[in-house]
Amino acid sequence: MADKDKVFIFDTTLRDGEQAPGASMNAQEKLDIAYALERLGVDIIEAGFPVISKGDFDSVKMVSEHIKESTVCGLARCMKKDIDAAKDALADAKRKRIHVFLATSKIHMEHKLKKSQEEILQMAVDSVKYAKQFVEDIEFSPEDASRSDRDFIFRVLEEVIKVGATTVNIPDTVGYGVPDEYGDLISAIKNTVPNIDKAIISTHCHDDLGLAVANSLDAVHKGARQVECTINGIGERAGNASMEEIVMALRTRKDFYGLSTDIRTQEFLRASHLVSKYTGFAVAPNKAIVGSNAFRHESGIHQDGILKERSTYEIMKPEDVGYVGTGLVMGKHSGRHAFKDRLTVLGVTLRDEDLDKAFERFKAVADKKKEVFDEDLIAIVDDEVRAVNVVWRIDRLASQSGTNIKPMVTVALVKDGEARERSSSGDGPIDACYKAIDAITGIKGELLDYSIHSVTHGKDALGEVTVKVKFKGNTIIAKGASTDILEASGKAYINALNKLIAQESAKKKA
Ligand code: KIV
Ligand code: ZN
Repeated sequence: MADKDKVFIFDTTLRDGEQAPGASMNAQEKLDIAYALERLGVDIIEAGFPVISKGDFDSVKMVSEHIKESTVCGLARCMKKDIDAAKDALADAKRKRIHVFLATSKIHMEHKLKKSQEEILQMAVDSVKYAKQFVEDIEFSPEDASRSDRDFIFRVLEEVIKVGATTVNIPDTVGYGVPDEYGDLISAIKNTVPNIDKAIISTHCHDDLGLAVANSLDAVHKGARQVECTINGIGERAGNASMEEIVMALRTRKDFYGLSTDIRTQEFLRASHLVSKYTGFAVAPNKAIVGSNAFRHESGIHQDGILKERSTYEIMKPEDVGYVGTGLVMGKHSGRHAFKDRLTVLGVTLRDEDLDKAFERFKAVADKKKEVFDEDLIAIVDDEVRAVNVVWRIDRLASQSGTNIKPMVTVALVKDGEARERSSSGDGPIDACYKAIDAITGIKGELLDYSIHSVTHGKDALGEVTVKVKFKGNTIIAKGASTDILEASGKAYINALNKLIAQESAKKKA
């Protein structure tokens, strides 16, 4: 593949994605996502905005230490302290990039920055020069580019390229652009900025009008060769352009675009699940590429067509984005070997002791649930093995509730081998359960969000509960799964508490 036909994929799930209200992730979760992005073959991972907080600095540092294939990028405003923080956080990265940005639109320059065009130009040039002393690979973004004066952006881009910017990114910061117009801006940059051949043009589109993917595709069609995007399209406000949609559009319509990426698309589903799990943002069933209905055919005419010839109604193969079949796979007679084999097909490899734990849980689930599907297996592994730092564990849960009965729940928790039990009433069984847990642990949680979805179909399906809980000022997202929804709810809450305890002890050690 000639280089001019390659589109670089710049993922900003860990930076712009994390700016989505309520999406914060801890350092270990960010590292897990960074590994998933590396497995996908993402060219550049924007790991955070190091100056903004110690947590962000540490996460960029941690990602820099572990990721070897992708370039790791840190964001900075046009300020020395930002660039210094980015340089320090990226110190151990094998491949690194500093991304500096500064607004160029009249609205931002006048109201936010209170600076003239000349001052902005000077700041941009000085900052790129300063960053270039430390890192060769420099990206510059004129923030709010789609609402900026074109002649001014052309000047800024020319000057920052002169002093070493190797990528120039054109943000549609507020999602105001529309396809023809945004693509035309890219063409104009390509045709007007005299030294543009020395840099890659990048797109960065927000989805306020639902046009982020369309705008990004129009931009690559007109000459951009880097796309900034996120898994599941998460990001500030309505989100960023979704990576899986852009990559699959370029791949499926290669006849039109004539472009390629280096993304291993079979990893999309796994990455999507991971991001959804850590952010607590469910993926809509009708979401393109990774939604649970994306490849399901309901209408009889469609099913008939698919059976005769898949291409009648399918433009992509489900397995190309990571689906590995959703038929009935296991039951209570399935053995450990078959269980392990199926997990391997699903891309899950476990250490022997974790495999034992997961298998034991699988047997318990298979006893209650006749049919165990792939989605159940993933939920079992998430619930049983991936739970962090199990300090508190539910030993027993009993409830009494119903119409005209005040709900009463008894919970027994185990910590350090010792069981403690409490009963509590509440506004509902879940409220009662959480009150009983608070009474045992002595740590009061404020439930900010609660959702439940069935992992597969059927009355005996596993229920997966996601909670967002505030403990001691920290917001934690966690999940729990069980065929009993009260137990799933209790587990999710306890997993959140265990996460808090893990965070506190990591802070003490730091
Ligand atoms: O949306 C935006 O303008 C940004 C910049 C920092 C690139 O996220
Ligand atoms: Zn953005």
